Amino acid sequence: MTLARIAVIGAGYVGLVTGACFAELGNQVICLDIDAAKIEGLKRGVIPIYEPGLEELVKANVQRGRLAFTTSYDEAIPGTQFAFIAVNTPSGAEGEADMTYARKAAESIAQAATGHVIIVNKSTMPIGSGDQIAGIVARYTDGTRSFSVVSNPEFLREGSAVSDFMHPDRIVLGSTDREAAEVVSGLYATLGAPLIITDLRTAEMIKYASNAFLATKISFINEIASICEQLGADVSEVARGMGLDKRIGPQFLNAGVGWGGSCFPKDVRALAYMAAVNGCHPQLLRAVMEINRDARRSVLLKARAELGTLNERVIGVLGLAFKPNTDDLREAPAIEIIHLFQNEGAYVRVYDPAAMEKGRAMLRNVEFAPSPAAVAEGAHALVVLTEWDEFRRLDFAAIRASMAYPLLIDGRNMYSPAAMAELGFVYRGMGLSAGKRPLQAVPRLDGVAVART
Ligand code: UDX
Repeated sequence: MTLARIAVIGAGYVGLVTGACFAELGNQVICLDIDAAKIEGLKRGVIPIYEPGLEELVKANVQRGRLAFTTSYDEAIPGTQFAFIAVNTPSGAEGEADMTYARKAAESIAQAATGHVIIVNKSTMPIGSGDQIAGIVARYTDGTRSFSVVSNPEFLREGSAVSDFMHPDRIVLGSTDREAAEVVSGLYATLGAPLIITDLRTAEMIKYASNAFLATKISFINEIASICEQLGADVSEVARGMGLDKRIGPQFLNAGVGWGGSCFPKDVRALAYMAAVNGCHPQLLRAVMEINRDARRSVLLKARAELGTLNERVIGVLGLAFKPNTDDLREAPAIEIIHLFQNEGAYVRVYDPAAMEKGRAMLRNVEFAPSPAAVAEGAHALVVLTEWDEFRRLDFAAIRASMAYPLLIDGRNMYSPAAMAELGFVYRGMGLSAGKRPLQAVPRLDGVAVART
């Protein structure tokens, strides 16, 4: 049974997952993108991103005739009930989210529409964008067409986007037109998730506040990690002890080289920008960003502390992607960390199970090695920056034996410090004191005259 006709504007990460999942739920979906090469590829079954389960979903629904692709608004919009805007809103020069593509999409939808369309903002858009989009489409309303605008932010994580879509924690809908929001909620009815229907700006803020909070949680534990290092505590145990408190929860408390990706950096910057230009002083958000930068730099400091100089040292890097199970390098900590090493004259060699091709396009003067073992050979330090499963099962004895100096910097706290020390590595984690120092024999005061006042 066909439930609804849906157009999704933007066949990028969010658009493609949204389109394929709505088709899977039984709707008639057409995905539009202005990138003709991408649409041509999709028509032939070439999925432009690496996302588990997506390819199967796209192919199955194309075959069932429920999912199609186009570059033409005149093909996608007339007769559609819903137009989801899922175009990118990149960071502008000041950290603001750039609305150029979203505005253009709204104009094109308005021009091509023939009847009532509910425009649904899926992309993360600055607070106030819903009103802006409503203003744009209002200019094209001439009595024959009417529009409603609903904000429906996505909370998809890369690597588990399909399952996040199908099993959401909540569905957030914001609109000045409650009826339209309720109609959109019908698209998600079978998913059985809690529903929040609110006004446009509040829905938009829920998305920013959620991402900023998660980034804050990570930066918080990274700040605790650097304090742990100085005071001799173990941040992994601290996080476990904190996370068992139900009010805190265990997720997003993994200390490491920090957060990257297409959302957190862009959204925290954009929220801080919106706050600052509206007379607020977003000091927490600024600190969250600064701590994230410090987390990356701390890798360099650990290497320098052990190796003396980094000039002409060979640094082997395991992991480029901003997190495992993706080839996405946007704002990946590895990219910045590699640049920091290169700035000090180090020779960098890298390996990543999925992101080598994208790495070649972004990095200069780096050697791309065929395996983790090849990365380690002759290296003075091995630096692990992404917690790929593959990196858990390496032959570390052989790796240790092949290195010029056995420094292992575990930027994601993947390994047991004791096991690595036993294999002969000089192991440095994130938020662990530099090697558990044995308790020193402290001379007693017996027999020593202590001046008392
Ligand atoms: C995030 C949000 O989770 C998602 O809801 C939103 O829609 C888009 O942004 P994503 O960017 O895919 O999703 O990545 P996520 O899994 O949240 O991880 C973000 C970054 O934080 C990664 O670089 C990851 O390595 C890092 N991270 C995560 C930590 O450093 N520690 C943690 O405990 C968790």
